[in-house]
Amino acid sequence: MTMNQVRPARVDDAAELTQIAARAVKNDGFDDDAVARFMPGLRGNLALIAAGLVFVAEGDDGVLQGWVSMRPTGFGGLVLLEGIFVDPAHARRGVGRRLFSVAVELSRKLAGNVILIYSSPSSVDFYARLGANRIGATPFVFSPDVQLMMFAFTIPPA
Ligand SMILES: CC(C)(COP(=O)(O)OP(=O)(O)OC[C@H]1O[C@@H](n2cnc3c(N)ncnc32)[C@H](O)[C@@H]1OP(=O)(O)O)[C@@H](O)C(=O)NCCC(=O)NCCS
Repeated sequence: MTMNQVRPARVDDAAELTQIAARAVKNDGFDDDAVARFMPGLRGNLALIAAGLVFVAEGDDGVLQGWVSMRPTGFGGLVLLEGIFVDPAHARRGVGRRLFSVAVELSRKLAGNVILIYSSPSSVDFYARLGANRIGATPFVFSPDVQLMMFAFTIPPA
């Protein structure tokens, strides 16, 4: 099914967003125990949805294919990519790239000029492909056994 639109998430999307994130992480090889540990970072966040900081990709059939969530950091110009998840059933068809471009547009509106990204090991090539630069590594706060790679994406002039 082709992607129909990217739209702001609604509060009643939240449960499905969590399911998509859990499926995406399991598809990367993490087991149920790991997904349970990661869960605080996988949930559709109602406050961010209500603030207009979460966007979903929706197919022609109305099924949600993926989502992206942003968070202002309070540091001038720096916006955090809170999460980006594509349902494995719709992976590698450009949904992640489209969601990221919406995140860039949103970040511009938030007066951001750099997006900070914490990448799971399996997503580093995705962010590199999108032009982000690797700047470091740090343990995942919800599961310190997992090392996340840090990237910075410089937002180009509009
Ligand atoms: C990472 C993720 C968001 C990518 O979504 P996607 O819809 O499959 O990505 P796209 O199809 O838009 O790919 C964009 C580009 O990145 C490349 N890419 C995507 N995933 C890749 C991977 N795992 N390895 C290598 N390249 C990859 C694609 O080939 C494509 O390049 P191209 O346009 O030049 O051909 C998705 O795989 C996912 O949800 N992963 C699990 C959750 C996760 O780890 N999220 C990130 C941490 S918050």
